[in-house]
Amino acid sequence: MKNEDLSRFSYMGIISDLNKIAQSIPNFLHLSNCDPPVYGYVLEAAIQKQINQLQISNFSGYPSWNGDDELRHALSQRIQGISNVEIPPNRLVMTYGVSEGFPLTFDALFYKNPGSLAIPDPSYIPLIVQARRFSKIWFYDCDEQLNWNPDMDQLVTSLEKHPDTKAIVIITPNSPTGAVYSEKTLKELINIAGQHNLIIITDEIYDSLTFGKFVSPLEFAYDNPVIYLNGFSKVYRLPGFRLGYLGWHDPLEKYPEIWFQLEHLCKGRLGVTSIAQEIAKLALRESKEATLDFTQSIHKKQIFLTEHLESIDGISVVPAQGGTYVFPRIIYDIDDEILAKYLLKTHHIYVTPGSAYGFSPARNHLRFVTLESYDALLQGAQALKKSLNVLSK
Ligand SMILES: Cc1ncc(COP(=O)(O)O)c(C=O)c1O
Repeated sequence: MKNEDLSRFSYMGIISDLNKIAQSIPNFLHLSNCDPPVYGYVLEAAIQKQINQLQISNFSGYPSWNGDDELRHALSQRIQGISNVEIPPNRLVMTYGVSEGFPLTFDALFYKNPGSLAIPDPSYIPLIVQARRFSKIWFYDCDEQLNWNPDMDQLVTSLEKHPDTKAIVIITPNSPTGAVYSEKTLKELINIAGQHNLIIITDEIYDSLTFGKFVSPLEFAYDNPVIYLNGFSKVYRLPGFRLGYLGWHDPLEKYPEIWFQLEHLCKGRLGVTSIAQEIAKLALRESKEATLDFTQSIHKKQIFLTEHLESIDGISVVPAQGGTYVFPRIIYDIDDEILAKYLLKTHHIYVTPGSAYGFSPARNHLRFVTLESYDALLQGAQALKKSLNVLSK
């Protein structure tokens, strides 16, 4: 697979076609927008109040290149609380979201050491966009029959075909499938990574947005090097502040040059916005109950939408275990791109076709985001039912 052929998984390909249609439809219903505050999901009132009391002019100086000390200490503790693994504050850097964590990671990994990167199919689009800039990439299949867990046999076979693979990306809870990997799955994945000397890149942006148990890949990484990516956009509902963090775990110090290069890249961009970091410190103090309320609200909407979608002839759904997505399969022989365009043009419902996220496992799926109201989600499901009735004839 040539990297040029991957442009369809970008904002130039399928998404751009859909957006062009959307431009001519005022007030279409966006059921694929993953921006919590737009739908009223914000931090609890007490924390919002403290944020509003911050004296913004106190934060006009340059931040430090790696981020606020107190914040990195708090994040180090948060990571330890979730994974039982210590990433010390001096191995953490603040980033402009996980979205900046991606290019920093791939630049540091591949600048001296060209090779390939294994990413899940389906994958998160900005991950594909950024990875293509720095390395060759190939997809490993996540299998719907296995609740969207990775197909380990296919992964091993593909690794043999790509002996220059340097790193593997794991996303749990996963976007767009909503899968949350079990301890067993993670142990298998990490074992395979270890056998092939791969650096693990783990994107855990939805960590506590999980409807059962969340297990961090970091917990079972042991001596395997890990680049840990997380941020404030989802669990803390602050995407507008563009704040994330990147951690480096390499207990045997196998690759000191990677951390050195990461530091170098972060120094070269002089740190991330100070006020956002101050806000993040407050966000970390949100009560567990408030964060749980948010997760439960999303979970209820996912159950609601899943039930409505499953009742439609021609649709099947593997229930999501986390994240903000429902990823139904179109059983009928109808192309997902055609269906998404039809839904938008005819019913003014915007959902993303699975083909935008990867090659085969994602094809013939639609990605719904479950942040909208129950009414809106119902409207989406009803429109899908009507569309299938027409297009399946
Ligand atoms: C898997 C995944 N990683 C990263 C991001 C974006 O993270 P950030 O807002 O921190 O840049 C998203 C946003 O939807 C996502 O789904």
